[in-house]
Amino acid sequence: MAEKARIAIFISGAGTNMAALVYASRIAECPYEVVLVASNDPAAAGLALAQAEGIATFAHPHKGMTRDAHDAAMETAVLEAGADTIVLAGYMRILSDGFVERWAGRMLNIHPSLLPLYKGLDTHGRAIAAGDRYAGTSVHLVTPELDAGEVLAQVRVPIAAGDTPDSLAERVKFAEHQLYPRAVAEYVGRWRDPAHLLARLRALALALAETDERESHGSPGFRVGGEKSGKYFAYFADQHHGTPHIALLVRTGSMDELLALVEDQPEIYFKPAYYGASGWVGIILNRPGVDWDEVAEWLHRSWRSVAPKRLTRMMYIADEF
Ligand code: GAR
Repeated sequence: MAEKARIAIFISGAGTNMAALVYASRIAECPYEVVLVASNDPAAAGLALAQAEGIATFAHPHKGMTRDAHDAAMETAVLEAGADTIVLAGYMRILSDGFVERWAGRMLNIHPSLLPLYKGLDTHGRAIAAGDRYAGTSVHLVTPELDAGEVLAQVRVPIAAGDTPDSLAERVKFAEHQLYPRAVAEYVGRWRDPAHLLARLRALALALAETDERESHGSPGFRVGGEKSGKYFAYFADQHHGTPHIALLVRTGSMDELLALVEDQPEIYFKPAYYGASGWVGIILNRPGVDWDEVAEWLHRSWRSVAPKRLTRMMYIADEF
């Protein structure tokens, strides 16, 4: 089994979602472990459960502190616990933009509505008042704008006749307890899932002009320039030739450039078997924190180095200005 992701859970209240995450992590195949439960409220009921489970806890009231100072205290606890992902589970404090940006792509939240409906508070009351047939819950990535990050998973929960915000909230929580552990497990496993990485790469490669996908020596390859005279500008290599890497292979400008990249950033770049000899570089994709904008730039550069003149001419003209 590959190394597990290490998650820190932030709570403010009962912590029933935290409990669901903890018990899911006790099942052998779970791809994450809970290394910290932290709260802005030392009286949060969930802390006692975490302690009884032998999980490290941290609690620091936010009263009288600036937002930045409180966030910094929480972050120090997260880093000391060695967590790589933060999971908000009923954490009822807004985090500062700086904090959110530092954890971009590594922080998830669960929100009790079918986002983008009913961001913020009193979600159930508003859904009932609107006469909606369904309430629900959403797991999403945290971005500086409140409850607006990419939605990763949702479950609908019907609103029953006579439902009050409390009765509905209680039922939605049953759905949350099923959804959250699965969504977190899926998300933290993504960066090493070849199907996910290939899908992401494919979307970027095929967005470039006149490209197609064709298998080459058993690997997906991406070409530009049409059926007959097309040239490869990228390959997806899934643990080839004894490397542990799932990688994108693209063309560099020269052997010197390739060797410099590998020497300066061996955690990102490597010289692939066979292709390396002709100046192709391997970019490791199965690592946390891949910068997909950078991947897109590499694809574009490699595409441009072999694309027919009629496709690149306009770009070179643009570059001169
Ligand atoms: C959950 O229903 C969660 O979706 C909600 O608070 C509850 C926490 O319950 N979160 C928010 O409203 C965030 N804006 P829990 O403490 O029992 O897990």
